[in-house]
Amino acid sequence: MSGERRPAAVTCTAPINIAVIKYWGKRNEELILPINSSLSVTLHQDQLKTTTSAAASRDFKEDRIWLNGREENINQPRLQSCLREIRRLARKRRSGSEEESTPCILSYRVHICSENNFPTAAGLASSAAGYACLVYTLATLYGVETELSEIARQGSGSACRSIYGGFVQWLMGERDDGKDSLAQQIAPESHWPELQVLVLVVSAERKPVGSTAGMQTSVETSPLLKHRAEAVVPDRVKEMCEAIRQRDFERFGQLTMKDSNQFHATCLDTFPPIFYLNDISRCIIHVVHLFNTYYGQTKVAYTFDAGPNAVIFCLEQTVDEFVSALRCCFPPESNGDMFLKGLPAGPAVLSKELKMAMD
Ligand code: DP6
Repeated sequence: MSGERRPAAVTCTAPINIAVIKYWGKRNEELILPINSSLSVTLHQDQLKTTTSAAASRDFKEDRIWLNGREENINQPRLQSCLREIRRLARKRRSGSEEESTPCILSYRVHICSENNFPTAAGLASSAAGYACLVYTLATLYGVETELSEIARQGSGSACRSIYGGFVQWLMGERDDGKDSLAQQIAPESHWPELQVLVLVVSAERKPVGSTAGMQTSVETSPLLKHRAEAVVPDRVKEMCEAIRQRDFERFGQLTMKDSNQFHATCLDTFPPIFYLNDISRCIIHVVHLFNTYYGQTKVAYTFDAGPNAVIFCLEQTVDEFVSALRCCFPPESNGDMFLKGLPAGPAVLSKELKMAMD
C-alpha cells in the first residue's frame, strides 16, 4: 500500500487480494469473525486497485463518502465501525502527547472519495481492496499505525488480508472479541517472483448474491461448509503455507484448485443453492485441466471467488503458452466481453497487457 501525505488530506491505493484458501462463513457477523482461516496472494500495487482520498476540514458539516463517483450512505454500519475505530485509536495516540494542545483534525468531519480501476462487486475482491484502502487512508490521515488489519476486517473480512503484500494468512482466531483474528504476512512479494496471475474477466456484472448474504445462508444450511471449516481447511492452510515456502507450484496449484472447487461445492450445498460459476467459467476449468493433463503436471491453476471471473496462477514461463491455448478455445469473435490481464503476483512487473477479447 502507498500513501501521500498533505495537510489534512491523503490519497492512498490498495490492491486486491486473491484467496487461494477461501474464507466463507462467519461465527460473528458484527465483528466479522470467520469460521476458518484463509490464505491469499495480494496482487501488485499497480494493477487492480482502489484509490481513496480523504480530507478533513473545519468547513465540512458532516462525514460523507463517494464510491466510483456516486455518493453513498456514510451511516452503513461497516463504514461507521472503521471510522469509529480509527478515530478511537487516533484519540488514544493523542492523549498525553504534546500534540494535544494543538488544533486537531479529529474534531473535523471527513470527506472520502474512493474509486476502483476494475469492475465493482463482480467477484473480483473489490470490497477487500476498498476497505483496506479506506482504513489505510484514514489511518494515514489521523496518524494511526496499529491494528489496521483488525479494523479493515470489520469493514469486510477479506480486506484484512489486503493490508499486507505478498502471501498473507488470515488467522481465524479463537477469542470472542476478535483481537486474535488478524492477517499476517507469511512471505513477502519478493519470495516467488516467477508466480504470475492472469485475471480473466468473464463478466463485469454485479454478482446476483453478495458474499455477505451468500455466506450467511451457507452457514445456516450447508453441512458441507461445516465439514470444510472443521475437517479440511486447518490442514490445507498448513500445507499451503509449506507449498508457498518451498515455491512448489505443483502443490500450490492443486491446493488452490481443490479449495476453489470445494468453496463452489458449498455454494451448491447451500439451500437455496448459489451459482457463481457460469458456462464460460466451467469451460476455463476444463481448459486448465486439459493443459495440465497434456503436460503431465500442474502448470496452471484456477480459482474463482463469488463470481464467474477466473483468476489463473502459473509460472512466468507458462504465461504465453497458456494464453495461446486460451486464444484457441475462446477466439475473439466468441468470447464476448472477456478480457485477460497479465499481472504479477510478486514485484516482477509484467508490463504487457494481454487483451483476450484480443484484437
Ligand atoms: C469468496 O470479504 O467480501 O472472496 O466479510 O461479508 O464482507 P464480508 O465478505 P467478503 O468475502 C470474500 C469471500 C471470497 C473468499 C475470500 O476472499 O477469502
